Amino acid sequence: MTPLFLPLPGNEAMTAGLAAACGGAVAALELRRFPDGETYVRVDTPVAGRHAAIVATLDRPDPKIAPLLLLAATLRDLGASSVGLVAPYLAYMRQDARFRPGEGITSEYFARLVSNTFDWLVTVDPHLHRHESLDAVYSVPARAVQAAPLMARWISGNIAQPLLVGPDAESAQWAGAVAAEADAPFEVLSKVRRGDREVEVSLPSADRWRGRTPVLVDDIVSTARTMIAATRHFVAAGMAKPVCIAVHGIFAGDAYDALAAAGPARIVTCNTIIHPSNAIDVTDLVAGALRGLVPRS
Ligand code: R5P
Repeated sequence: MTPLFLPLPGNEAMTAGLAAACGGAVAALELRRFPDGETYVRVDTPVAGRHAAIVATLDRPDPKIAPLLLLAATLRDLGASSVGLVAPYLAYMRQDARFRPGEGITSEYFARLVSNTFDWLVTVDPHLHRHESLDAVYSVPARAVQAAPLMARWISGNIAQPLLVGPDAESAQWAGAVAAEADAPFEVLSKVRRGDREVEVSLPSADRWRGRTPVLVDDIVSTARTMIAATRHFVAAGMAKPVCIAVHGIFAGDAYDALAAAGPARIVTCNTIIHPSNAIDVTDLVAGALRGLVPRS
């Protein structure tokens, strides 16, 4: 039987694309809130004996977690052979250590919750910093696909003479991979974060790179303070307006408007989180990882 794909609300387009690419079907699903705020789940497609994949990008995760767990439990109860999770953006990867006494290492607890619920996980560019790989925290098969080749293709097709810039040391792995794919020079700035919304970055050698378009590459834009600080530096140094590219555009609160006001030439993201800045489609990339994970019968 063909695999069954089920979207959490907001994930319908990616779900349809994945089902088409994998020869699967999209299940009829009713997922809504009761008046008291609890979740109602009904799967109106036969599930017994079928492999199921829930598609749920996990930005702003907390309100999504209860529906996700309850839908997975429903699928198992209805007899699904396996239940996997496609989370184009994987939440709770950034608190990967106890920085202050008493803090929870929530990346580990969240990984435990997901591993206890699902048979496998596919995601795009998880924020791996202190955890070396998903396998270090997830105990089920977990595949991470990289958007770097797609980002590099977008840059090569849209920007002449790019200078790729990682705005901080953590972004170097993404910016470096994109630079290598795009065959472009690459610099990493150093960043000091003084608080959730207070960030300072160093400036690279502006004279050396005059004539090039800075392309700021990061995995996540959340408050956008990192991208804003870097963008302002390039604008102040009189270099070409930078292009800001990220895999995951979370854009918390007013982040998108604040970044746009800092003066970049363009802001571009992958469609791991639906946003008007989406210009790079990762559906086929994710489908490639799924084909190896989801059995067809
Ligand atoms: C750093 O840990 C990440 O690679 C990003 O630089 C960071 O998540 C961006 O956060 P914000 O948009 O809040 O500055």
